Formats: sequence, C-alpha cells, structure tokens
Amino acid sequence: MTSPTVPQRISVPFILQSKTAKPSRKLVATTAYDFTSARLIDSAGVDLILVGDSLGSVVQGLETTIPVTLDEMVYHCRCVTRGVKHALVVGDMPFMSFQVSPEKALEAAGRLLKEGGVSAVKVEGGVAIAETIRRLVSVDIPVVGHIGLTPQSYHRMGGYTVQGKKSGSTEVAGTRDRVIADALAVERAGAFACVLEGLPSDLASEITEMLHIPTIGIGAGKECDGQILVSTDLLGMNPDFAPKFVKRYANLAEGITSAVTEFTNEVRAGKFPLAEHSFQSSVKRSTASVSSLKIAR
Ligand code: KIV
Repeated sequence: MTSPTVPQRISVPFILQSKTAKPSRKLVATTAYDFTSARLIDSAGVDLILVGDSLGSVVQGLETTIPVTLDEMVYHCRCVTRGVKHALVVGDMPFMSFQVSPEKALEAAGRLLKEGGVSAVKVEGGVAIAETIRRLVSVDIPVVGHIGLTPQSYHRMGGYTVQGKKSGSTEVAGTRDRVIADALAVERAGAFACVLEGLPSDLASEITEMLHIPTIGIGAGKECDGQILVSTDLLGMNPDFAPKFVKRYANLAEGITSAVTEFTNEVRAGKFPLAEHSFQSSVKRSTASVSSLKIAR
C-alpha cells in the first residue's frame, strides 16, 4: 500500500491504513481536556486527540482515574471537539461505564459520540472486554483498545507498574502471555487501533508485528506504530511528575508561574494597567452628562 495523503480531517480508515503505509508514517497522539488547549494542540498537526480519563489527575487532582464519571467525560469531550478541526477525537470510557455489560457500554459510548461529539471511544482491557468491543463495533462505534498498564486496574496491579516483564503462563497477572492474549483479543473483536502502555520495548515490538491494527505506545518503546503522551506531561506543566517514559518538550510550568508572578508584581507596583490597556471616555467629563458617556474600544 502506498502512503495515503494526509486528509484535512483524520478518519478511522486513515488511522487503520497507516499500519501498512509506505513509506511508513508514525501516528502521533496526545490528550486534551478543554477547548483552548485542544485548538492549540490540533493546530500542531497531531493525528489523534484523546480526551483521556487522565483528566482525573490532570484536571481534577485525583490520585487515580477510578472516580471519573461518564458525565464528566461527556462534558470534556464536548469542550474538546469544539476546538478540533483536523485530528480524530477519541473519548475515553471511564471506569464502570463499560464493565457491567455490553449493553451498558453501548449506552455510555453512544453518549460520548452523540453528546460529546467524538468519533471513537477507547476502552481499557483485553480478553475480559472483547465481547463489549465487538458489540460497540457492531453498531459502528469505532473502538481503540488499551492494554498493558491499564490505569483503571490500579488496585489489581498494586500501582502503576510495567506489565509483561515475566514470561510463562502459570502466573496470570502481568505476564507476557496475558498481554499478548489481550492484544489479539482486542484486534479480533474489531478495534481499529490499540494503545500499549507500560510494556518492555521488546514485547511491544512483538505485539506491533503480530497485529494488523496500529499500536500506539506510551512507555512501550519506539517500535510501536505511533506514540501518545499526556499533553500536560509533554508540555512540562507538572514539575512533580517526571517518569522515565516522558520527555518534556516545553517547560510551561516555569513559563506560567513566571508570567503570573510578573503580573502580580506589576499590579502591586502600579505598573499595570497603563493607559494603553485602559478605556477612555469619548467626550470630556467636564462637558458631558453621565448618561452620554461611551466606552471607546
Ligand atoms: O487517559 C489517558 O490519558 C490515557 C493515555 C495515557 C493513553 O489513557
């Protein structure tokens, strides 16, 4: 297959075809949670914007993503989709919005598409939720899988730990065999892409070769078909969070703090606002009645 020209609006088939595009083209993805940042991120030309349930920590200051609700996801999806013209926007299915039954998952995913305006949803898990993925895909709701370190499994994993480091099939949790089985289950169920999170590079590479759908890695090495980072991490907005898999492409924490410090100092020193930031009356106060004063813009 030849490399398809990049369309104005990234579609699900475009993401799927990127797996076999020649010359190869890596998929680029990041997260957004609000209109202003989504618009800026979209203008950089990324392929996929995820409204991640990572908003639990990034926006809400929570320890885990577990308390994030479907209503909150719908709200943030709506804010983001208003700002995006190019990238494919994917909405995350929060914990307990898809685990109860495929029918409940269908209702939840339907809300993300109808009310949130996203084009696809992402679900965490593999073998255990394959039937649910199949049900969503059967009514044309495109699905991105997410396997390996799945943050909603925080308690089973005992924290955010790299998965698939051990081999052998006797131990169920966290083995390579389990992760491979999850990857195959997600693909067979009809997902059009799969996030691989927190995996040794060689395992992520093996899965990427095995699957016919693109893999999008985070903390899973460079052989994946694409990469995703949480936007606030790559922009350096959280000085207290510096895991090995994150590269900071900016230091917005410093930029924001220093800009607001300068504003604070100038207001206190009477240096802001100056005349150029202030509105003037269009008529002289001495000759005007109060009711005829106009604001000049
Ligand atoms: O919620 C999120 O932002 C995610 C990405 C880290 C893949 O799931």
